Amino acid sequence: MLIDVTVGAIQDQAAQAIVVNLFEGVTEPGGATGAVDAALGGQIRALIAGGDFRGKRNEVAVLYPHDALPAQRVILVGLGKAEKFSLDVARQAAGTAAAKARDLGVTHLHTIVHGAGIGGCDPEQAAQALVEGTLLALYRFEELKTQDLADRHLDALTLVEFDAERADALQTGARVGQAMAEGAMVARNLVNRPANVATPYHLAQQAEKIAAETGLDVQIIEEDELEEMGMHSFLSVSHGGGEPPCLIVLEHNAGRKDLPTVALVGKGITFDTGGISLKPSAKMELMKGDMGGAAAVIGAMQAVAQLELPLHVVGIVPATENMPDAHATKPGDVVFSLKGITIEIINTDAEGRLILADGITYADTFAPDAIIDIATLTGGRVVALGAHAAAVMGDAGLVARLQAAGEATRERVWELPLFEEYGEQLKSQVADVKNVGGREGSSITAGFFLSKFVCNDTPWCHIDIAGLDQSDKAAPYAPKGATGYGARLLVETLRRWDA
Ligand code: BES
Ligand code: MN
Ligand code: ZN
Repeated sequence: MLIDVTVGAIQDQAAQAIVVNLFEGVTEPGGATGAVDAALGGQIRALIAGGDFRGKRNEVAVLYPHDALPAQRVILVGLGKAEKFSLDVARQAAGTAAAKARDLGVTHLHTIVHGAGIGGCDPEQAAQALVEGTLLALYRFEELKTQDLADRHLDALTLVEFDAERADALQTGARVGQAMAEGAMVARNLVNRPANVATPYHLAQQAEKIAAETGLDVQIIEEDELEEMGMHSFLSVSHGGGEPPCLIVLEHNAGRKDLPTVALVGKGITFDTGGISLKPSAKMELMKGDMGGAAAVIGAMQAVAQLELPLHVVGIVPATENMPDAHATKPGDVVFSLKGITIEIINTDAEGRLILADGITYADTFAPDAIIDIATLTGGRVVALGAHAAAVMGDAGLVARLQAAGEATRERVWELPLFEEYGEQLKSQVADVKNVGGREGSSITAGFFLSKFVCNDTPWCHIDIAGLDQSDKAAPYAPKGATGYGARLLVETLRRWDA
């Protein structure tokens, strides 16, 4: 998508469509919307007076100015109640308007920046939200369709700003928004791709492609070498699978010892059957998304590189499928992890923590100042928090950073405790630890298990995004299917690192 900023009045744009907005309860629109209304001889006021448009969040109306304005169409989008306005409402409004414009056949859309006027938002942040909402709403996954492909595409967006002094801020915000959204769409594509396409080596190839495009360093470590390194916890998950496993390492600002180092570790289970502890078949197809954490990390790394963040960031993805066959790990098997801790594998379906354990230990190689792992880890997360917050646990400072970034991106997180008493549930008769802690507090015991594999007391935290990787409901800037959850959250956390 081509995105630019132009200085001028929205009502003067000779455009296929212009977008203006309205808060709920406003009867006499001011600003850009007022100017358009005046040019239209009061048509917007008439819509409001007639009760046809109330300004509810994501409400949308289309007006045809004929010759009253140079634009062919006016798209009016509701922002809801002014006191409830936020950058996410702006993101949603942008998404709603863009989707409407595309469905009408508009290929180049001109819009005001929601929130930058009476909304009172910082213009840079408002422009970022606008571009994120637009790109994320227009996302479609069609690469595996040969029929019924959509024929309407919006491919250019112009941000129209009256105040010339704000143009630079809008330009910057638009650039950030584009990097954020594209990172999230990388994650969406990887999750939407089925497991016969998005294999561990597919993830590796995608990482290599992104590295070549952005200048990230990349390393793909293959099974033989992982074996020699001692990543037996990770490899125990891949034994039953036909697809070879690999460890993907992406690095931004490699070798810059002067910069803070943050390691991101993403769960890359390209398909989770449960292994010998086989899952029931209902909804098992959703387990193609069990690399949602890996997808978030890979997408975030692309954005981190594009935004040239002043940090040394390492993305680590252990990638494998979890399948049952004659070579598969059996319940009761004991493995030696990279850290040397022995693990009794009671349930082969608790595989995410087995691959992350070695991934987290491996992160120590980079002497990180912080480690953040992200994973579709537990069904308990879905039960506890539903669709509106990821679970987060670990270092209080990191949790606070993620909470702040989660509010800004609307990829919110909610903290769970890691009290040492939970450790009792992981005691094994035969090994140092077992990989499951029972039904009670299952998201917490999973996090507790991971905490054991951190080296040198490095600040660490864990984000559980189970069930958030895909949605069966469309939202204003997220069609059904993969959400990209976590990619923007990670990037925003890193963008604010110094704050
Ligand atoms: N990938 C699943 C968790 C999951 C559940 C992701 C629902 C997305 C939606 C994970 O590997 C898993 O199977 N977890 C089990 C562990 C249990 C066997 C200890 C769980 O939480 O039920
Ligand atoms: Mn599992
Ligand atoms: Zn899993």
